[in-house]
Amino acid sequence: NMKQRLLVVANRLPVSAVRRGEDSWSLEISAGGLVSALLGVKDVDAKWIGWAGVNVSDEVGQRALVRALAEKRCIPVFLDEEIVHQYYNGYCNNILWPLFHYLGLPQEDRLATTRNFESQFNAYKRANQMFADVVNQHYQEGDVVWCHDYHLMFLPKCLKEHNSKMKVGWFLHTPFPSSEIYRTLPSRSDLLRSVLAADLVGFHTYDYARHFVSACTRILGLEGTPEGVEDQGRLTRVAAFPIGIDSERFKRALDLPAVKKHVQELTQRFAGRKVMLGVDRLDMIKGIPQKILAFEKFLEENSDWRDKVVLLQIAVPTRTDVPEYQKLTSQVHEIVGRINGRFGTLSAVPIHHLDRSLDFHALCALYAVTDVALVTSLRDGMNLVSYEFVACQGSKKGVLILSEFAGAAQSLGAGAILVNPWNITEVAKSIEHALKMTSEEREKRHRHNYAHVTTHTAQDWAETFVSELNDTIVEAQLRT
Ligand code: UDP
Ligand code: G6P
Repeated sequence: NMKQRLLVVANRLPVSAVRRGEDSWSLEISAGGLVSALLGVKDVDAKWIGWAGVNVSDEVGQRALVRALAEKRCIPVFLDEEIVHQYYNGYCNNILWPLFHYLGLPQEDRLATTRNFESQFNAYKRANQMFADVVNQHYQEGDVVWCHDYHLMFLPKCLKEHNSKMKVGWFLHTPFPSSEIYRTLPSRSDLLRSVLAADLVGFHTYDYARHFVSACTRILGLEGTPEGVEDQGRLTRVAAFPIGIDSERFKRALDLPAVKKHVQELTQRFAGRKVMLGVDRLDMIKGIPQKILAFEKFLEENSDWRDKVVLLQIAVPTRTDVPEYQKLTSQVHEIVGRINGRFGTLSAVPIHHLDRSLDFHALCALYAVTDVALVTSLRDGMNLVSYEFVACQGSKKGVLILSEFAGAAQSLGAGAILVNPWNITEVAKSIEHALKMTSEEREKRHRHNYAHVTTHTAQDWAETFVSELNDTIVEAQLRT
């Protein structure tokens, strides 16, 4: 029922390009929840439009990349270095991302950010127009254009100004903050008005949708209704569409001989120790220092566990040109080094911290051998790592410790141990509880989570959004 053509527009394409020669490229799967979720959507006639993660200034290179990406149904938007610097590193990841996650800027960056705001916002608008130009080149009448995330809040307006008949949806993969936070943003009204040009606006949770509607009523003085936001008789539909994963893909992977072998190796390597796991992009929002400090506290207070547990932290490098992310990397390394120095022995260390990404099969094997997964996001739109862990725990039925500030807390709250990541005493206690949990309690909790993760899939999420978008447009036509 999704025969309709779909143009998916997101800053990050599902594959990132690496140059191998003048006219040759290799493509690698990109990291992050947005890409994972959209890769889980099948049976759609979809094309992707986005940035391939590299600067390509020569025409030979550009033409070769267009060809390579076409095989993956991807269409590149070429952004030059200066735009990437101001739009992606600057406005998106130094301003919008921290603000939407309730993280203030560090004191020393505040004035510089204030000073650069206008030029970065202008670059943001220019970049959004460049995405719109590519959409317009490939759009055919009847297509659904689905815009994604905080990078592209200006896109709905650019598209509708060009063609008011275009079916345009916009979905935010991050939290939308309380209007009290949002209203500090200098460009607050422009961004809201542009998003409202879409026909349907979607969020992961009902809270985020409500925050968005309040921002529109308080800042723009528009009317909020249960359906959405109204402006002079025109309705923008606003609703919650919680995302999911393709759980079958994970289950299938666990049946592969290569993954089974990997599971066996890991089991042997960590025999006699419980395995705790963290998998995060190395991002401030993930609460990685807080998680490690809580683990330290646990070791401090439970000396008998020191040689019986190991924490594996996969920290996927991300946005490495943004100074905040560089600082976080050295901060985490320092804490890990200190704790391993303090509790390590000649034969083992308590924390294995890896600054790298893993391929899909290695990741599945890790999820499967884990006893306790630790997700301590300070804020997180949804958090798919928690879903993926649950999907891989069919036999082990391990415990998920989950931040109450992740969107996933609203769906996995019944099965997970929910924690406030800022309270390391509470997290340390939860680690103890998880490690000592009876198998009855573990199985009961796992059942809850597993039922949710296997029935709320990425496929359903996309189908629901697109069909709601079509319905919204039919209803609007009936009204006029
Ligand atoms: N992931 C990845 N490479 C890795 C480790 C993880 O691509 O080496 C994936 C992981 O499987 C998950 C996504 O990155 O699907 C992270 O999504 P999540 O929603 O948890 O957080 P985000 O990174 O979007 O903030
Ligand atoms: C989050 C954002 C995505 C983004 C991903 C990875 O999931 O919501 O839009 O793609 O992080 O970040 P990056 O900056 O590498 O695209």
